[in-house]
Amino acid sequence: MAADTKRTGDTRKGLESRSAGRDGGQRLTALWAGLGVVAGLGAALGGYALLYEPFDVRTERLAVRLLRDKAGLPREGLNILHLSDTHFRGAERREHAKIAQVRRATAGEKIDVLIHTGDFLHKDSGLDNVLALIDSIPKPRLGAFAVSGNHDHVFYNLRRAPLYSWRLFHARESENGAGSGARSTSESAENGIAGLRALLRFGRFLFQNRFDGEPAGVNDIGRLRRQLEERGMQFLDNRSVRLGETGVYLVGIEDLMEGRPDLDRSLERVPDEAPTILLSHNPDIIEAAAAGRADLILAGHTHGGQIVLPLIGPTYTQTKQLSRSEASGYSRRGRTQVYVHRGLGESVPVRFGAPPHVTFIRLLPARPQSGADGAGRNGDRK
Ligand SMILES: [Fe+2]
Repeated sequence: MAADTKRTGDTRKGLESRSAGRDGGQRLTALWAGLGVVAGLGAALGGYALLYEPFDVRTERLAVRLLRDKAGLPREGLNILHLSDTHFRGAERREHAKIAQVRRATAGEKIDVLIHTGDFLHKDSGLDNVLALIDSIPKPRLGAFAVSGNHDHVFYNLRRAPLYSWRLFHARESENGAGSGARSTSESAENGIAGLRALLRFGRFLFQNRFDGEPAGVNDIGRLRRQLEERGMQFLDNRSVRLGETGVYLVGIEDLMEGRPDLDRSLERVPDEAPTILLSHNPDIIEAAAAGRADLILAGHTHGGQIVLPLIGPTYTQTKQLSRSEASGYSRRGRTQVYVHRGLGESVPVRFGAPPHVTFIRLLPARPQSGADGAGRNGDRK
């Protein structure tokens, strides 16, 4: 009897043990399946960001009406084709694919003005493709104009960007004095909490778009300018030009990071009452007091954040003055309207939620009856 009871107990334990083993096995299988799904999803999103979206060149169209009643703009308006941030480096397949899409997007369009707001090049080796891009676009009626971007001056070593950014962070902490970087860093070796705090501050530093590549050499901006000027493109670095027979002035400013920007000099020949379009590679020009004289600022540089994440939005916008939501597209400050282009190319070749594009802007006079601020639905896509 006792032996029977023991056998029954052993049998139950055996069954329970086999059942627990089966449950454990099922949990392990479910865990692997979950990991597989996550890995598959990650690979699919990564493939999309690397291989699809950078080549998905969109066409955007918007109407922008002046917010100040100024004479000089044709009643029918001006058709502006705005390009920016091509970042060509001589990657044939990649860049030829983009050029082909720009050719298709602009074929048959009546373009009054072609504007490129800089970062033509990533490296000098991209020059031939830059020229091929400009040659692929219908000739603009009133001319082609440009400003240079930081990458037209300098190329950056992005592989060393984490270390370089850490050094910048460290230097800033040292400059700030209290809880200086030097002290924090040494504390981090001795004190885990201080080290963790330093890492969190570094994370915040990066989140504020301070992930910088280390300048590693210069690009031949003189050659870029000469070659583009031979094709009729004018560089407006710290100068202005009146647009053909219109009363519209185009004003350009040198790059805020690598050039010698001088907005007062740029604007000195521009009459106060003239419709004014300011070209600046970097949209942070918006905070310069004189920038308010411009009716429209066209800029690039942000790449629209390049990776746009749910809840966070554009991740790496490289702007100190614009909010993440203003990092691409239309916005305004007072009566100055701003359009920030997401660019056609990339420095790091991925895009997610920020596809490359060409933009057609129809710039129109202010509504006569509405006074100074009557644009209403300005910036609407057409
Ligand atoms: Fe750029």
